[in-house]
Amino acid sequence: MSGLSIENISMRFDLPNGSSVQALKNVSLHLKPGELMSVLGPSGCGKTTLLNIVAGFLAPTEGEIRMNGHTVTGPDAERGMVFQQGALFEWMDVRGNVSFGPRMKGENEAHWGANVDHLLDVTGLGDFKDKAIYELSGGMQQRVALARCLANDPDVILMDEPLGALDALTREKMQGLVLKLWKETGKTIILITHSVEEALLLGERLLVMAPRPGRIHKEYQLPFADMGVNADLREVKQAQGYNDTREEILEMIWDMEEEIMGRTEDQK
Ligand SMILES: Nc1ncnc2c1ncn2[C@@H]1O[C@H](COP(=O)(O)OP(=O)(O)OP(=O)(O)O)[C@@H](O)[C@H]1O
Ligand SMILES: [Mg+2]
Repeated sequence: MSGLSIENISMRFDLPNGSSVQALKNVSLHLKPGELMSVLGPSGCGKTTLLNIVAGFLAPTEGEIRMNGHTVTGPDAERGMVFQQGALFEWMDVRGNVSFGPRMKGENEAHWGANVDHLLDVTGLGDFKDKAIYELSGGMQQRVALARCLANDPDVILMDEPLGALDALTREKMQGLVLKLWKETGKTIILITHSVEEALLLGERLLVMAPRPGRIHKEYQLPFADMGVNADLREVKQAQGYNDTREEILEMIWDMEEEIMGRTEDQK
């Protein structure tokens, strides 16, 4: 089957003191090629763990990840990761960072040059290709991270809070860029966020996870990501259903947080 299948994944971390944490339990879902799914949930519900398993950084205790029909056994260029921040190569300039993947594959510049320059242009970095990473703002650094990921031409892009460290205005611009790149490239994307608004705007599918053990709580199919490809994101927030869905999800996550706090209090 084409696409990404998360098949009955459970993950238990055994701790040195003999106890264990059930970070995920029986998580299953399938993403068709080109789908964009955002993931929300309270802190500790296993979002990063799930992404790390899909990336192949972690082996699940149970279940498997299948990508276009084959079983995932480790990291691969078919599944690219964009981290929250700080994962760029500080000793390379912008173009050096973006071309890192193709260069590591041993390809020469005649092969990757045009594509890398195109990616620098679409991410608005065309005038900054010779700059050092430390000379860039946080938003620009995240654009480098996105362009570097796309230069590997992955089938799936995994993003863990990619815009979480940005100021509100830069974040909004980056949200527009993510939608634009999604439509242009047809990539499958999983994007973890703590922002309900961001999850609504960017996820044509939105997954709400619940904690202890980490599991799927509810899934939504939403029209807002498609709307946002051609419209101002602020207009999309006025669209019918946006506010009601936001309130519903906020309350859902609020209730989960309350329950966690309650349980923590009980344990004292
Ligand atoms: N390597 C590890 N060893 C032990 N426990 C771990 C490990 N990684 C994660 N956990 C535990 O697994 C659970 C899920 O963690 P995870 O980082 O996936 O949550 P998250 O949903 O990404 O949270 P946040 O929103 O805070 O980033 C937590 O209880 C965490 O303490
Ligand atoms: Mg996390």
